[in-house]
Amino acid sequence: MKTHFSIFLQIFVVILIAENNRAAIAPSIKTCPRNSPNLAECLIKAVDVMKPQISTGYYGPNLISDVNLTRVLIGDIAVNRNINVKLLGMYIVGMNNFKIEKLRINPEKFKIEIIVSIPHMDGFAKYSLGWNLGIFAIQGAGDENFSLDNTKVLMKLSGTRYPRNGVEYLKIDSAEMTIKSGNLRVYFDNLFNGQKALEKAANEVINQNIELFKGEVFPPIEQNLSKILLRLATQIFDSAPYEEFFPIK
Ligand SMILES: *[C@@H]1O[C@H](CO)[C@@H](O)[C@H](O)[C@H]1NC(C)=O
Ligand SMILES: *[C@@H]1O[C@H](CO)[C@@H](O)[C@H](O)[C@H]1NC(C)=O
Ligand SMILES: *[C@@H]1O[C@H](CO)[C@@H](O)[C@H](O)[C@H]1NC(C)=O
Repeated sequence: MKTHFSIFLQIFVVILIAENNRAAIAPSIKTCPRNSPNLAECLIKAVDVMKPQISTGYYGPNLISDVNLTRVLIGDIAVNRNINVKLLGMYIVGMNNFKIEKLRINPEKFKIEIIVSIPHMDGFAKYSLGWNLGIFAIQGAGDENFSLDNTKVLMKLSGTRYPRNGVEYLKIDSAEMTIKSGNLRVYFDNLFNGQKALEKAANEVINQNIELFKGEVFPPIEQNLSKILLRLATQIFDSAPYEEFFPIK
């Protein structure tokens, strides 16, 4: 009798632990059936409905991401090639106003490609800059801001499914974010130690050569954005089993 009871107790405890480990998906996350013929459309709608959560990073008590698209912290960027520029503590505001233009997903091998458009973003950083444009050797340090309009961004994610406590989860293996197009305008405050006329003229010249500037600065920004996307996707898919995101119906 005693052993029966203890076996019963052990089974009960095992079930209890299993239930606890099996995290429930945050209620704010809309799910899409994996085998639906309209999976891509379903996901576009689901992401749209989740915009408030994506904007704040708060999906529910068991899923609070440190990434929110209202204000994205890019961190420090340093480039030292044709342009010598440091952008420190850079952050971007307004990414949460994105709209999905296109989405492709293969839910079996987890691969997803999304093109989003973002109408307007503002960015801020501390800078130091040295840029020799032939006629003009621009230099300075201080506050920098920029605006990025009509931006298109391509995001690619891939992952593998793996068992955790007997339940299938998704591990994100790679995340890539590329800025496909967008009108960038920058303003560097305090160029030439804040001699205003020179500062204004230099900013004009920089914006006339904005494609060169983009070519130098976008790649490291994209690298950091890719890391941020990896972090966000990992936090989301770590929070619940794969089946709960993409049930088979
Ligand atoms: C969003 O993230 C930024 C950068 O990490 C942070 O400064 C800001 O406080 C966050 N906003 C919210 C609402 O959590
Ligand atoms: C941003 O990328 C640079 C390299 O380009 C790296 O040194 C820096 O640590 C990154 N910052 C963040 C927040 O990932
Ligand atoms: C960028 O900086 C310039 C010069 O300091 C200022 O006039 C402008 O309002 C700033 N833009 C934003 C979005 O803060």
